[in-house]
Amino acid sequence: MEIISDITAMQNRCLSARAAGQTITFVPTMGFLHEGHLSLLREGRKRGDLLVLSIFVNPTQFGQGEDLDRYPRNFERDESLARECGVDLLFYPDVEAMYPAGYATYVTVDGPLTTTLEGACRPTHFRGVTSVVTKLFNIVMPQVALFGRKDFQQLAVISRMTADLNLPIDIVGMPIIREADGLAMSSRNVYLSDSERKQALALSDTLRQAAEMAQNGESEADKILTMAQDRLHAEADLQIDYVKICNAQSLEEVDTIDHESVILLAVSIGKTRLIDNGNLIS
Ligand code: PAJ
Repeated sequence: MEIISDITAMQNRCLSARAAGQTITFVPTMGFLHEGHLSLLREGRKRGDLLVLSIFVNPTQFGQGEDLDRYPRNFERDESLARECGVDLLFYPDVEAMYPAGYATYVTVDGPLTTTLEGACRPTHFRGVTSVVTKLFNIVMPQVALFGRKDFQQLAVISRMTADLNLPIDIVGMPIIREADGLAMSSRNVYLSDSERKQALALSDTLRQAAEMAQNGESEADKILTMAQDRLHAEADLQIDYVKICNAQSLEEVDTIDHESVILLAVSIGKTRLIDNGNLIS
C-alpha cells in the first residue's frame, strides 16, 4: 500500500492507473476507521483494480462549535486496517494542501435535499461535504465511489451532485453496519460514556419498533412518529434534533407510509450528536 499526501503525486498516480486501463474504486472517509468503513473498502476491493481510501477530516463540513478539534484520529491504526482490506493507495492530505490561502470555491446542491433534516440543523454542512467530495473526485478520478447509507442524506446529496454535474462516477450506496446490540457504527461513538452508550440504543430500538408498526399495517406517519418521540424521550440525557418519515428519493416528509418511506433521526446524547435511519417496509 502506498501512502500519498501530495495532491499532484496522487493525481499522477491515478492518471497512470487510468491510462493502464485500471478501474479505480474510491472510499472517502474522515478516518478513525470502523467496520462500517471497512465494509465499503471490502466491496470496493471487489469492484475495481485500484482501491483508493482517503482520510481527511474536512474542516469545511463542521459548523462553529462542532467537534472538529476533538474529532477522533488514529492514523497508525487506520493504516494497518487499510492494509488488511487490500487498499492500494491511501490518500492523506493536510488541510493546508486542500485549502491553501486564498481558497474560494465551493460546490453546493440547492433546495430541499440540503435544507431539510441535517441541512436544517447544520446549515453549512453539505456545502463542505459536496465541495470536498468534488475535490477528492478530481484528485482520485475514480469510476466507482462507495458511500454508506448510515449518512442517508449525504448519499442522496452526493448522488444528486454527481448526476447534475455529469461526473462519470458510479455512486454505490452500502448498508448500515451495526454493533451486535444494534448501535450504528460511527467514529463519534467513542465520545459516549457508559451510561450514554446504553441510552444510544434507543435509536436502533426506535427504528426497529417503527418498522414493526409499519409491517403490522400502520400506514399513518404521525402514529409512528409519536411512538418514536415517546421512545426517545424515555432516555434522560437524550435530546431530539429531528425524527421524520420521508420519501427516500426526495427526502420530503410523507403522511402515508409506502415502500419508499424511510425514517430518519438525529439526537444529541450529552455532547454527542448521533444519526440513524431505516426503511419502514422492506
Ligand atoms: P465518515 O463519517 O468517515 O464516513 C465515511 C463513509 O463511511 C461514509 O460514506 C459513511 O456513510 C460511511 N459509514 C460510516 N458509518 C457507517 C456504518 N455504520 N455503516 C456503513 N457505512 C458507514 O462521511 C464522511 O466521513 C464525510 O462526510 C466524507 C464523505 C468523507 C466527506 O468528508
